[in-house]
Amino acid sequence: MPKIFSGVQPTSIPTLGNYLGAMKNFVTLQEGNDCIYCIVDEHAITLPQDPVEIQKNIHNLAALYLAIGIDPKRSILFIQSEVPCHAQLGWIMQCVSYMGELERMTQYKDKSQGKNAIPAGLLTYPPLMAADILLYHTDLVPVGADQKQHLELTRDLAERFNNKYGEVFTIPEPYIPPVGARIMSLAEPTKKMSKSDKNKKATIFTLDSEKDIIKKIKSAITDDEASIRYDREQKPGVSNLLDIYSLCSGRSVDDLVSAYQGKGYGEFKTDVAEAVVGMLKPIQEKYNNLIESSELDEVLDEGAEKAYAIARKTLKDTEQALGIGRINRL
Ligand code: TYM
Repeated sequence: MPKIFSGVQPTSIPTLGNYLGAMKNFVTLQEGNDCIYCIVDEHAITLPQDPVEIQKNIHNLAALYLAIGIDPKRSILFIQSEVPCHAQLGWIMQCVSYMGELERMTQYKDKSQGKNAIPAGLLTYPPLMAADILLYHTDLVPVGADQKQHLELTRDLAERFNNKYGEVFTIPEPYIPPVGARIMSLAEPTKKMSKSDKNKKATIFTLDSEKDIIKKIKSAITDDEASIRYDREQKPGVSNLLDIYSLCSGRSVDDLVSAYQGKGYGEFKTDVAEAVVGMLKPIQEKYNNLIESSELDEVLDEGAEKAYAIARKTLKDTEQALGIGRINRL
């Protein structure tokens, strides 16, 4: 079966963008694939985190993974720092990377901008991400559009290694959905919706209350044309709401555009909000039941054990190809 790997950082409650662009597909891909999903806490500490907060976020993200429908009987769910092979292969991938290619990563440029002391981990974030993916011989990586460049680098590093030391790694493909790969900010629809946006109205979080979701969507920036049509360039706000509506309702964008001919933005926004609330409500109910349950620790223990068994073998093959450590000894 094809192998799927992806991860989410435990830096806050995931946003509607995280869910629609990536996590929703984690669930559907469980059908017919071997899936491994990760809470990438080592990536999260590339920027300073409060220890109490990140511990809470790890727990909450585990509950959310299960609440959206990740099935621990079919998929492996684990925490990155509990499988030390990630940091170990991450180091090897750093040694395979060039400074120039790491400095060209747009996420590095964005996140390091304006800082006079740039954590080195921000620069070496992509080789660690490559390690995550390559440890499991991943075929397909479901991500949002902002991760495309990191996936291309992962492929380059894997090919570079294989060419030099022999075929150890599978070359992964990104899985970027046709709709939802880039959910935009509600306050500034030319910018990606982001966890860290200072504007409280810009981002919907998956655990937001019904009242907050309605308030945020009602205040979403649109335009003064008063017509509901899809045009990312000229009408980024309306197009973003159409994408969100389509993904939350299962109706196509074309269908929605014809249904809202001649209708106003007020009515449209009310219906978008209703669709978002309707989609998130069952997830939030499951989340609330899971958050206190002991099932979470059992799932994560078992996940770490299973992930380690696979990752250890790939790491050993990599070390043998490089000639480090002693051959044929663990
Ligand atoms: P993170 O936690 O920042 O984002 C998790 C996923 O959400 C997607 N995403 C979006 N999709 C659509 N619209 C948006 N506005 C939006 N914002 C975020 C991201 O593309 C991502 O798929 N580097 C990864 C974490 C990672 C990883 C990996 C992913 C570490 N190792 C290995 C895949 C494979 C990240 O930024 O996650």
